[in-house]
Amino acid sequence: MMNNPNHVSFVLDGKTVNLNFADSKYKPTTTLLQYLRDLPGHKSVKEGCAEGDCGACTVVMGELKNDKIQYRAYDSCLIFLPAVHGKQIITAENLGNSENLHPVQQAMHDYDGSQCGFCTPGFVMSIFALYKQEEKPDKEEITNALSGNLCRCTGYRPIIEAAESSIKNRHEDHFCKCEDIIASLLKKINTKDTIEIITEKQKYFIPFTKKEALSLRKQFPNALLIAGSTDIALRVTKRHEFLPEIIDLSHIRELDCFNINKDKAFIGSNYSLEDLRNSSKSVFPALNNILNIFGSRQIRNRACLGGNIGSASPIGDSIPVLMAYDAEVVLESVETKRTIKLREFITGYRQTQCKPSEIITEIIVPIPKSDILIKSYKVSKRKDLDISTVSACFSLKLNENKVEDIAIFYGGMSAFTKRAVKTEEILKGKTWNRKNIEIAMKYITEDYKPISDARAGFKVREIMAANLLMKFWVETNQVYKH
Ligand SMILES: Cc1cc2nc3c(=O)[nH]c(=O)nc-3n(C[C@H](O)[C@H](O)[C@H](O)COP(=O)(O)OP(=O)(O)OC[C@H]3O[C@@H](n4cnc5c(N)ncnc54)[C@H](O)[C@@H]3O)c2cc1C
Ligand code: FES
Ligand code: FES
Repeated sequence: MMNNPNHVSFVLDGKTVNLNFADSKYKPTTTLLQYLRDLPGHKSVKEGCAEGDCGACTVVMGELKNDKIQYRAYDSCLIFLPAVHGKQIITAENLGNSENLHPVQQAMHDYDGSQCGFCTPGFVMSIFALYKQEEKPDKEEITNALSGNLCRCTGYRPIIEAAESSIKNRHEDHFCKCEDIIASLLKKINTKDTIEIITEKQKYFIPFTKKEALSLRKQFPNALLIAGSTDIALRVTKRHEFLPEIIDLSHIRELDCFNINKDKAFIGSNYSLEDLRNSSKSVFPALNNILNIFGSRQIRNRACLGGNIGSASPIGDSIPVLMAYDAEVVLESVETKRTIKLREFITGYRQTQCKPSEIITEIIVPIPKSDILIKSYKVSKRKDLDISTVSACFSLKLNENKVEDIAIFYGGMSAFTKRAVKTEEILKGKTWNRKNIEIAMKYITEDYKPISDARAGFKVREIMAANLLMKFWVETNQVYKH
């Protein structure tokens, strides 16, 4: 079944907008930012970088989850317009105006959180998303949620104070009062039948079920899959590439899940990295650690685990960690379903074993036994909102202070994430002490021949990788001592 051909529907300014791509100036790869900037009433949404790095374009999207609206902040420069189907789009104009400010806007004013004002609507929207969360975030969570917003002139202290104050004094706002009306508008939008947008030059499909997605994958094996599009959108906004066929998986609810069954977690490929950050806290601390500093809140709200693995980037941050946990990837096509180890899934620079007929549907992560210690590290130029120069994840099992088993994975050290086989061999069976670590550190150059690029020279990468091994030893030594 198809939805109304070429149409997507969403709620903006309290009304349902039905956008017909067949007779509009917008392309399926027009970004939400470009669309909003084109409207007369939403100029608060700014274009700073058009690549997810500044947060000036932050909007909040409301989405129905269990009959309630969940509000989350996103970089509108990374979202293709059809992907907003079925959602409510909120910009700073919808919060309040100079006569009637929303409590978040009022707090930004009261705490002098704005000077030139270019970044301000983006900050307001990130704080607004926190304001609408059920729990009250502590200061760490507030700064984490603002890590995707840059300000050149005000300084962050007054902005953080404005966030703290407005959230502390949180009360019902006009969004609470009209939530039922918006929810009923969202419910009326058809989110069952596949959306097919076919313009003169582009095809864009939005399936709502896995079955439909697999069938489209079979019909259009050359189509580009997208999940959160945080990687792919840059091909349009930065490299000005033309993407003729896209299958957008972001609306498939059955792939947006996290379940634990006995000793394994089953994570749907559409599960967002922000949800995964929250779900992994107690069960996969090394994964949680890396997700706390993965991109920004806006990126993680949108990016999915399947997208991070599917990108097969040599600096994909979840990859070394999930390899250390010995995760498996489930690949499905209309006819087949197979499960392969992530350690074997990636075969080269941005190359995987995923066939043109297949989709990653699930990632299975074994919960480590209590005698296995797994730790992850990321070295980047900045702590937040930066990609890795070198990352590492180590999994260790000791037996009377001798290495019974060790698995070492580095990101940023080769064309794709690989195991440090020779370094591991040197350590196996040896005493877990500083002397043996110093010997093993020398073997990293046998496992990897890193390149030099804008982030670091090859030599620096080698030193970083060796030092991370030492850091792991220092930290594990402390763990075992206590
Ligand atoms: C500002 C910024 C900061 C970033 N910071 C980080 C960071 O700190 N660490 C990091 O690792 N990355 C980072 N990234 C890169 C990117 O956000 C991540 O790789 C993200 O996980 C991609 O997920 P996505 O859902 O957006 O994927 P998409 O962009 O939708 O897709 C990425 C790739 O995966 C494929 N794919 C998606 N879903 C599937 C599927 N189900 N089956 C098969 N293939 C699929 C797509 O075809 C595509 O090749 C950053 C990007 C930006 C713009
Ligand atoms: S314009 Fe900078 S994050 Fe979107
Ligand atoms: S107020 Fe000028 S960039 Fe933030």
